[in-house]
Amino acid sequence: MKVLLTGRDGQLGQALISKIPAGVDLVAIGRAELDLADGESCRRMVLDQRPDWVLNAGAYTAVDRAESEANLAMAVNAGAPAAFAAALEQTGGRLLQLSTDFVFNGAQGSPYRPEQPLAPLGVYGATKAAGETAALTLPGARVLRTSWVYGPVGKNFCLTMLRLHAAKAAAGEPLAVVADQVGCPTATHTLAAACWRAIGVGAGADGPQILHWSDAGAASWYDFAVAIGELGLAAGLLQQVAEVHPLTSADYPTPAQRPSYSLLECSSSRLALGLESLHWQAALAEVLAAVPR
Ligand SMILES: NC(=O)c1ccc[n+]([C@@H]2O[C@H](COP(=O)([O-])OP(=O)(O)OC[C@H]3O[C@@H](n4cnc5c(N)ncnc54)[C@H](OP(=O)(O)O)[C@@H]3O)[C@@H](O)[C@H]2O)c1
Repeated sequence: MKVLLTGRDGQLGQALISKIPAGVDLVAIGRAELDLADGESCRRMVLDQRPDWVLNAGAYTAVDRAESEANLAMAVNAGAPAAFAAALEQTGGRLLQLSTDFVFNGAQGSPYRPEQPLAPLGVYGATKAAGETAALTLPGARVLRTSWVYGPVGKNFCLTMLRLHAAKAAAGEPLAVVADQVGCPTATHTLAAACWRAIGVGAGADGPQILHWSDAGAASWYDFAVAIGELGLAAGLLQQVAEVHPLTSADYPTPAQRPSYSLLECSSSRLALGLESLHWQAALAEVLAAVPR
């Protein structure tokens, strides 16, 4: 099976590459080979490569910056899947489009099921929602939504918190983190396994078009920061941890509004993919063990 992977250098892209299953002929491309904002180049890449699947892990992911770069975010997050879908319709290939819990507004206060209507709060969520719609014009496409992605490499909350714990603890200062947004951290290695399953490696490329995948459990950013400190200390990545103080979203204004509750209901997708989820704290311990020292 030939798979064209975008976002090779991103955190999910790296995890997918480190877990290439047997029998997959992977063509992994980054920004240097393809500008995802250029729809015509995306179309041509598919017509040249003729993959069985495009696994579109590349994305404009700067949630706050998207508020002032809406056109670029839309071109990357919606234009690329639209171009892939159109070209794959011609070649007979399929598309796995990654998406986000930020397509929901968080107002319902209970986990979101895959088939629920979308209501993004910010530009990033709106562009990802448009990307889903574009992808799903291809009958063989799948959308896999996930949340709060982090891993041992790349730019993410976990690696930032490790740095901040060390710096704040050394300065004898507390670390203040938002406590009124609830979701679920998802490790890149568990997400990568779900992506490979979603394109039919091992089991079920058929089944629901929209899938939800996160690690198990729920957390606030505050809970996540506390756990990163405790488990970072246990893993030997930190010598000491900072005290973590809870903040409200109002105390920490950001350009993009974020959902206050964005848990994804994953049980039907777990069944469809034939995979169990790891609790986020267990996944965090595995990620911390893999952080380069
Ligand atoms: N991160 C999260 O918390 C999160 C949560 C839910 C869903 N998701 C979704 O999960 C997927 C994977 O995210 P991730 O965390 O792995 O993101 P990431 O680490 O930011 O990686 C995204 C990759 O896309 C590339 N990219 C951005 N603009 C591009 C362009 N115009 N042309 C070519 N490449 C471009 C980036 O390249 P550069 O490094 O050169 O910019 C980067 O390598 C995305 O669809 C994202 O929306 C992420």
